[in-house]
Parts: sequence; C-alpha cells; structure tokens
Amino acid sequence: MIEVAGLTKFYGELRALDDVTFDVQKGEILGFLGPNGAGKTTTMRILTGFLSPTTGTAKVGGYDVVENSLEVRRITGYLPETVPLYNEMRVREYLGYMARVRGIQRKRIRDRVDYVMERCGLVEVADRIVGHLSKGYRQRVGIAQAIVHDPQVLILDEPTIGLDPVQVREVRQLIKSMAGERTIILSTHILPEVSMTCERVLIIHKGQIVAEDTPEGLSRRLQHSERILIRLARVPSQPLSALEQLDGVIKVERVGDNSFAVEAPAGHDIREKLAEFIVRNGWGLLELRREEMTLEDIFVNLVTRE
Ligand SMILES: Nc1ncnc2c1ncn2[C@@H]1O[C@H](COP(=O)(O)OP(=O)(O)OP(=O)(O)O)[C@@H](O)[C@H]1O
Ligand SMILES: [Mg+2]
Repeated sequence: MIEVAGLTKFYGELRALDDVTFDVQKGEILGFLGPNGAGKTTTMRILTGFLSPTTGTAKVGGYDVVENSLEVRRITGYLPETVPLYNEMRVREYLGYMARVRGIQRKRIRDRVDYVMERCGLVEVADRIVGHLSKGYRQRVGIAQAIVHDPQVLILDEPTIGLDPVQVREVRQLIKSMAGERTIILSTHILPEVSMTCERVLIIHKGQIVAEDTPEGLSRRLQHSERILIRLARVPSQPLSALEQLDGVIKVERVGDNSFAVEAPAGHDIREKLAEFIVRNGWGLLELRREEMTLEDIFVNLVTRE
C-alpha cells in the first residue's frame, strides 16, 4: 500500500533523511519510532505530498506522491504534528467544512460527520467552539478530520502527544480499532506506544532506518543476554556465589530482600536447570520468570551502538 524507496531529503546542508526504504502492507499499522529530529515528520510530510523529496520515490496506493499528489491526498488522511484547526468554528461545522474540502458529495457529508464524531467520541462536544476545547478533544477533532473522507491510508504524526493518560488510552484504542480496515503509519517517541498499537516498528535515527521488526522481534534480536528473575522463600548465606556455581550463569544480582536477577547468554534457556537447582537446595522457589527487554532498552541500545 505504501512503498518508499531511497528517500533522501536535504534542508539546505542538513540531511534530514538518508536513503530511507520501507513498505507498508494493506491493513497494517506501522510504528515510526525515533527521537526528536530523527526525520519522522519529514517522512510523513513527503508521504502526504506536502513536501518533495530531494531524491528517491514514495508511492501511496500506487500513486507517486510527487506526480500524483492530488490522488495521494484523496486516499490519505493526515494528522499533522500541529493540526491547523479553525478555532472559531464549532466542531460539527468544522468537520463538515473539512468533508467538503476533501470532495465528499453534499448529500453524504452529514452522515460522514455524524459517523466520525461518534467514532472519535465527539458527540457531546459537537456544538462547542473548536478553540475552546481541551487539548485531548482537539486531538480527537484532528483525528476525526483525518478520517472524515474515509481514507484507505492514515498518517498520524505523534497522535497522543500532550494528552493525559486516559485520553492516551482512548486514542490508542481508536487507532487499534481501525487496524485491518485502514493502512496506518504513526510516529512517536513514546516507546510503549508502538508496542501497544503497532504490528511492526521501524526505528529511525538521524534520518536513517536503524531497525525494522515486530516489537517482540526487536527485543529478541537485541537481547545479548537474558535475565531470569527469581524469588526465594529461604535465602542461603552466600546466595550470589551459590547461584553463580550453576552452569551457564554469567552473573547474579540481588534485586530485593529475597529476589535475584540471574543473567545467562541469549538463546541459552537455563530456567529448568535453575529451578531444579533451587529446589534441590531447599531454598523454596516462590517465583521464576524471564525479564522482557522494554522498547526503551532496545532504543537506547540501538542508538548508542554506532
Ligand atoms: N523546514 C525545515 N527547515 C530546515 N530544517 C528542518 C525543517 N524541518 C525539519 N528540519 C530538520 O530536519 C531534521 C528532521 O526533522 P523532523 O521534524 O523530520 O524530525 P522528527 O523526527 O519529526 O522530530 P520530532 O520528534 O522532534 O518531531 C531535524 O534536524 C530538523 O531540525
Ligand atoms: Mg516530528
């Protein structure tokens, strides 16, 4: 549905994008993860036809974003970093206006506006002035305007930025609920966001793609060692050295009164042996689990690697 090949963008001397290539399949939600200045917004503006690349190509729904930018905009909904809302209009009026601008037939406008207001939880503020809405509601209006013309593709630039935790959850649910029916790219630097909403993640740093995988795959790929967390009923007198005797254990760390983190090489599952060892020694195994690496860990790992 989206094909990006060798995209490079210079702002004067500054190379904001450097040979970026990726595809997004129909119905997929792709997370675009990167720190400030990574090139997320630049990529999104190119994909929506608002900015042209220096070199490289991008196609949305088979249309070239430079040569067929009108077609691209027809099938794409875009939530920009700062939504250009018409602050003096009422919510219903604004969405009707956006529907008209996007070329929806007059007789269908009312239905579409009612539908997106329902979908985005805007019914109770339909007659409020846009400029008087809270940040969270304004963001919902931004998403509503992006989907009012029923686009196949959605490009959402930091959709949950500045929202409170309840609103964040609602917006994520809204995005997730559109999975399968639309192709979605969302950008974020809030790391848990991609693991919650996306099927695939692309990490961008200084204009380059440094990793591309599923959220789970990324953490698997980058794990150099595994940490097993254990909790004991009876801690032996020299717990660290006792546990370190076990074959395959690299290091043991005390993480609580009776809890320990046991490090082992990646791909070397020592859980069974560890459990046996603890039981045999009569230490009373209360808990044993593998610690998952967070996206935060991966991100730091990736960008500090070079
Ligand atoms: N119009 C512009 N003129 C000059 N430089 C720009 C322009 N827009 C962006 N840049 C630069 O290009 C680089 C990429 O910016 P971009 O806005 O794409 O990053 P981003 O990943 O969206 O960051 P953020 O998380 O802060 O939104 C940055 O170094 C930025 O300063
Ligand atoms: Mg940005």
